[in-house]
Amino acid sequence: MGKTIIISNRLPVQLQISNGDITAIPSVGGLATGMKSVHSGGDSLWIGWSGLTNEEIPKELSPKIDAALKEHGSSRVNLTEKEVDGFYYGFSNRTIWPLFHYFLEYSEFELQNWEIYKSVNQKFADAIIEAADDDDTIWIHDYQLMLVPQMVREQKPDISIGFFLHIPFPSFEIFRTLPWREKILEGLLGSDLIGFHTYDYERHFLSSVRRLLGLDVSFNDIYSDERVIKVDSFPMGIDYKKFSEAAKKNEDTAPEDLSELQRRLYNHKESTADAKFFLSIDRLDYTKGIAKRLNAFEYFLNKYPEYKEKVRLIILAVPSRSNVPQYQLLKREVDELVGRINGEFSTVSWTPIWYFYRSMPFENLIDLYTTCDIAWLTPIRDGMNLVAKEYIATRTDKTGVLILSEMAGSANEMNEAMLVNPNNFEQTADALKEAINMPKEEQIERNSILQKRLERYNVEKWANDFMSSLLDQKSKDHSHVAR
Ligand code: ADP
Ligand code: G6P
Repeated sequence: MGKTIIISNRLPVQLQISNGDITAIPSVGGLATGMKSVHSGGDSLWIGWSGLTNEEIPKELSPKIDAALKEHGSSRVNLTEKEVDGFYYGFSNRTIWPLFHYFLEYSEFELQNWEIYKSVNQKFADAIIEAADDDDTIWIHDYQLMLVPQMVREQKPDISIGFFLHIPFPSFEIFRTLPWREKILEGLLGSDLIGFHTYDYERHFLSSVRRLLGLDVSFNDIYSDERVIKVDSFPMGIDYKKFSEAAKKNEDTAPEDLSELQRRLYNHKESTADAKFFLSIDRLDYTKGIAKRLNAFEYFLNKYPEYKEKVRLIILAVPSRSNVPQYQLLKREVDELVGRINGEFSTVSWTPIWYFYRSMPFENLIDLYTTCDIAWLTPIRDGMNLVAKEYIATRTDKTGVLILSEMAGSANEMNEAMLVNPNNFEQTADALKEAINMPKEEQIERNSILQKRLERYNVEKWANDFMSSLLDQKSKDHSHVAR
């Protein structure tokens, strides 16, 4: 068997150039953090975009860039500024991302962006074709590259191709509004196996294939041009050990070695009896429901004023896709809401919200997970939400409460969390109160079950399940079932 080629728009690191030096910054987001764990363990090549446009790369730095990526087992697809605009900011993040997350009103249907999406997908396909031997396995990721499977199939008819979508696949009624809907489906059907996080996304996809392409679908097999394509759900896990061990290491830190962030968190706890921290961590994205969460927090403080000066909401929002207007508007909205709520409720000794707009190093992320009593993660729509799983994995003494949106893919596997509808402020405020008062024994009981499940179905198991299902699909003789 040959090597595995992973292909996604984002690589495990993003490159930046300053004063002629190249720095590699870890990529944020579920795809990169999850696949990184899989990639670092094996013999795979990861192809993607470096995060720099061709115009930003001086010719003389090109070899250095390749060397920096090679250190991470990666190689690059080069994109011009125009391509990044049309393909990444344009079709991927102004058309597909909002549409697939049910933000129909944000979705733009621009023919020019579609044309660029097609040509950039061809670039990625060409990079695979150049790097792949016939016995290699190709694993293509996410909504930026949905045409790539078919493009590779045309050149390499027998190669093994898997595709995984990291975001929701919307219901037929939403998907059908896309002008290029058939082309997207045909692109995906170049794969041998198509994976989704949940059974609902899988079912929506199969329904669109049946209704738009008129193909024969039996159970989770699609029959197309004498090929059989398997569709299945594989809920992505986390690198459980990495998170739980980091948390254990954190516990053993001597007081004099505490980070500045830890010191501030502990000081606050010690100075306020019964103080509780709510934690909110996401990329700054409208799908994550950050503005709604802030409104719900204000509602909670008004409904249950006895918790004033006793709770604090810590918001970590990671800058994301800041060239897209909706993200700029959201940034302004969140800034204003934080300012307004802090202005309204703060006292000389208490600020209800701590707001960080930046990416944080892994150690600080662990500090936040381990010191916050309640993780409050309520996306309006989210393919999976790995942060919820990471929070639970770091709770070494099994205490802590997870309030999770029903609309997150991870809610399907995390029934022991407190599941809420993010649009229901009444329910959310009551859940916050219940979380504050939840007895330790109940927290431990819920988290023990969650931890066991997350430890067992970790990211490695997820990747192995996907790969063995792909292998299995490829090795089947489908000639007798062709319809
Ligand atoms: P999405 O993929 O939509 O961004 P997920 O919750 O699935 O959402 O994944 C987010 C990933 O990004 C997690 O693995 C999390 O650890 C990481 N992450 C989130 N916030 C930060 C941050 N401030 N700094 C570094 N990594 C972060
Ligand atoms: C989500 C998507 C990924 C994407 C990540 C970060 O997890 O599913 O494909 O990489 O967000 O977004 P970005 O636009 O920075 O790659």
